[in-house]
Amino acid sequence: MLRTIRTEEDARKAVARARKRGKRVGLVPTMGYLHDGHLALVREARKTCDYVVVSVFVNPRQFGPEEDFERYPRDLRRDKRLLAKEGCDLVFAPAAKDIYPRGFMTTVGVGGLRDIMCGRVREGHFDGVCLVVLKLINIIRPDVAFFGEKDYQQLVIIRRMVDDLSVGVDIVGVPTVRDKDGLALSSRNAYLDPEERRRATALFRSLELGRLLITGGERRAEEVRRRMVSALIEGGVDRIEYVAIVDPDTLEEVRHIRSDVRIAVAAWVGDTRLIDNVPVEVRARRRRRRVKGRTAAVIMAAGEGKRMKSGLPKVLHTMGGRPLVRWVVAAARQAGVGEIIAVTGHGGDMVRPVLERLGVETVVQDVQRGTGHAVLQAYPLLKGFSGDVLVLSGDVPLVRASTLRKLLSDHRRHSNAVTFATAVVPDATGYGRIVRARDGSFEEIVEEKDADAKTRRIKEINGGIYCFKAGTMFDALLMLTSGNAQMEYYLTDTLGIIRSRGGRVEAHLIDDYTEVLGVNTRKDLRTVAAVYARRRRDEDNKRGVANGVHRKRKR
Ligand code: PAF
Repeated sequence: MLRTIRTEEDARKAVARARKRGKRVGLVPTMGYLHDGHLALVREARKTCDYVVVSVFVNPRQFGPEEDFERYPRDLRRDKRLLAKEGCDLVFAPAAKDIYPRGFMTTVGVGGLRDIMCGRVREGHFDGVCLVVLKLINIIRPDVAFFGEKDYQQLVIIRRMVDDLSVGVDIVGVPTVRDKDGLALSSRNAYLDPEERRRATALFRSLELGRLLITGGERRAEEVRRRMVSALIEGGVDRIEYVAIVDPDTLEEVRHIRSDVRIAVAAWVGDTRLIDNVPVEVRARRRRRRVKGRTAAVIMAAGEGKRMKSGLPKVLHTMGGRPLVRWVVAAARQAGVGEIIAVTGHGGDMVRPVLERLGVETVVQDVQRGTGHAVLQAYPLLKGFSGDVLVLSGDVPLVRASTLRKLLSDHRRHSNAVTFATAVVPDATGYGRIVRARDGSFEEIVEEKDADAKTRRIKEINGGIYCFKAGTMFDALLMLTSGNAQMEYYLTDTLGIIRSRGGRVEAHLIDDYTEVLGVNTRKDLRTVAAVYARRRRDEDNKRGVANGVHRKRKR
């Protein structure tokens, strides 16, 4: 049963009783107005502690005079409801006069670390954080205390303080929890109106860019920072406070990136100051591979395939005795693609070995944030490649090499920036419809949910097979926003971006719609298997006729 306690004395007593019962105590300090990021801390605490205390205290000492202490969101009742569901044992919600009684004089501070990054503009902030955290630790005396990596500088400072002062508590950092479009959860997101909320994703997108540049081999921190600043500005933030590429332990600025770094940003959107950061692992630089040939392919193979209701990743289900993704790889190879990169995610441990045996390079999309985000993950391997990139789906197994070859040759002949396959299907439900101008040229793709009755009657659909000029594709992917109901980054949105920048986009109608059939359910799997079997029969028949004719002639 969740208890709420207001005073230091009661908190000490409650925790002492738990200790007597041999419980391992975990503390999650918060300022309340809890979101899933806080709840992730509580869940992490639950894993290793059997008595979890969450403190809820909006600490006045960590707010500057011009800051948002007064308007900081508060809702203890709601917080308690959420915490009860997470199995928290005790909520400690003291009043300011209990934490800082009359005559309180002590200060704590971690010199150096407190004055950089956020400390440059938030004077006194980290001293206030250290003071309250040390006080809470002294009251609760936990075995472990949990902090979010979202406030990475805070985490590093608290670790330093706890070590320097031999506080005797383990500090655990918990990875940032993000919305689907990547925005890091924060109580301050409540200040953003819908338009600001959309612009706020610029922080995450600039961090993604920084991470991809570094994993792609960029070692000059200044260059990474320059590109991130541009991404933040283009993404619509109102003011950038800093973009920092730092050593993850000391927070020292790095100039030449040789080992793992943390990249962090602080920027304003409207009246709201937002911060975010990500870790970047730096592996020993791989020998720079030249992408073989004029054409590369990116195969999306990260989807979970929930509707398949199976533990097997979707692309490993079989058609004609082979995993779906193998058919796609085979078609790309037969079409003359030199370099194939697969984006893996769900079930990656099972998918990667299958692909690697086929000589396919793999990259990981750790969280599924849409098709555009998936393809972007191939950037480190295709950086600098100036040829064409076919984008295929690992769950669309009936695509023919001849179709890919035709797509590529039209793409090149017409000097298109993008050429994508469309098909006329008997039932277009669920597909993006192709709207063409009177002269037959491609106008736009309208997703089903946005389509009016007339557009819904269109039977020509987006087949989801694309051929892009590599540089144009990545430039557009880096500009993608996620202003849709799913909060995802859609590959199809790159077409509009490319067009608006003068690129030619062509919709290439293919004859056989079965080539674009995707597998999402068991029923779909049966459908593609039946088409495959029919194709085999037709081929056998053709071969039979040919042989028959041949035999006749011989006789
Ligand atoms: O991260 C926060 O919410 C606060 O800085 C903390 C650690 C609870 C101290 O007030």
